[in-house]
Amino acid sequence: MNILDIINKKRLNSSLSKSEIEYVVRAYLDDTIKDYQMSSLLMAICINGMNQDEINYLTDAMINSGETIDLSNVGGATVDKHSTGGVGDKTTLIVAPIVASLGVKVYKMSGRGLGHTGGTIDKLESIPGFKVDLTKKQFLSQVNKINLSVVSQTANLVPADKKIYALRDVTGTVESIPLIASSIMSKKIALGASNIVIDLKVGSGALIKNLDDATELATIMINIGKKYKRKVVCLLSNMDIPLGYNVGNSLEIKEAISVLKNEGEENLTNLCVALASHMVSLALEISFDEAREKVINTLKNGDALAKFYEFINFQQGRIDEMNDALYKYDVKAPINGFLTNIDAYIVGCYACEIGCGRRSKEDVIDYDAGIIIRKKINDYVSTNDIVFTVFSNSEIKDFQRLLDSLTISSKKIELPPLIYKVMS
Ligand code: URA
Repeated sequence: MNILDIINKKRLNSSLSKSEIEYVVRAYLDDTIKDYQMSSLLMAICINGMNQDEINYLTDAMINSGETIDLSNVGGATVDKHSTGGVGDKTTLIVAPIVASLGVKVYKMSGRGLGHTGGTIDKLESIPGFKVDLTKKQFLSQVNKINLSVVSQTANLVPADKKIYALRDVTGTVESIPLIASSIMSKKIALGASNIVIDLKVGSGALIKNLDDATELATIMINIGKKYKRKVVCLLSNMDIPLGYNVGNSLEIKEAISVLKNEGEENLTNLCVALASHMVSLALEISFDEAREKVINTLKNGDALAKFYEFINFQQGRIDEMNDALYKYDVKAPINGFLTNIDAYIVGCYACEIGCGRRSKEDVIDYDAGIIIRKKINDYVSTNDIVFTVFSNSEIKDFQRLLDSLTISSKKIELPPLIYKVMS
């Protein structure tokens, strides 16, 4: 088979066959297909899309690129959760310990930042000593002991996604429904969970910008789940403004702890409670309301927080040694008025530029860099008010691009819903 023929076929908007897709995945993994050829094919997929058959072939090929885990014999209820990625999205760090503290096993493989969105693994690596590369044996044994482990993609679990994901991050090919669906679902299936909750972010700061595309992506992922006999629930949630107050790796760990201490920002807390309740409801086969009551209790009585610290200790993180950034800048509102938007995409891009994410595969992250948002939508701000505090280990001179994220108006707005809909 010839990669140039395959690229041209997709460029001309034809469907790829099962054997062509299997060839691409295999040959990219063994370096027969080069990064520049794969980038070109990914861009053609981004532009022309794929049908459900092609997406199924791609998902299968990615799953078969490595080992899989069979959780059918581990005993007990299990659930997995994934987010399509957003700005300030630290929900995994909160919902995973909540759910684990209720006796449900959470086997979680997470990713690094993608495009302008952050990744759970980068956030966890901001904790000194934290190990994200456990062996399969260590991973399984940890979940047996404490119900929870979060690891990065190992070389042998869906290695094709690991390599393609890193390439998409730096080639402008992240925002593609077929590529997102196959990337997420291959990992979920390979990891063996029979219950899967997906936080599908919609809005300026998400990979998916509108509700129609989000509905299409949810439908595709639910269909893949059905093919593999997995229960999939998708929550379509708002990502027009950053989630919570903090954006940036170590800052998001700190904010996750504040939610687990019942001191969290309202939207972030409410979304985490909803996600965790769906996870517990699926895993324990109880009603959503019953699950929600359990979730609220475990937050209130401190069990979820204790589970978080236990999980960090098990993976050798030393939370007490987390640093503050060298530089800290307060940024004030440019004019008076009601704050009616904080564009999550602009904040995400700015965060990436100051070191929270990567622009090339080799970039090194500044874990302490980030932004704290000091005001909420519909707050009245005057030119003396601090709207952002920016943190970095190197000097920053330009705050204008961050200020460009703000819309300040003469009137308040009607707040959009936090969760648009739930699909299953
Ligand atoms: N999360 C993933 O794992 N893959 C994507 O493509 C997007 C979000």
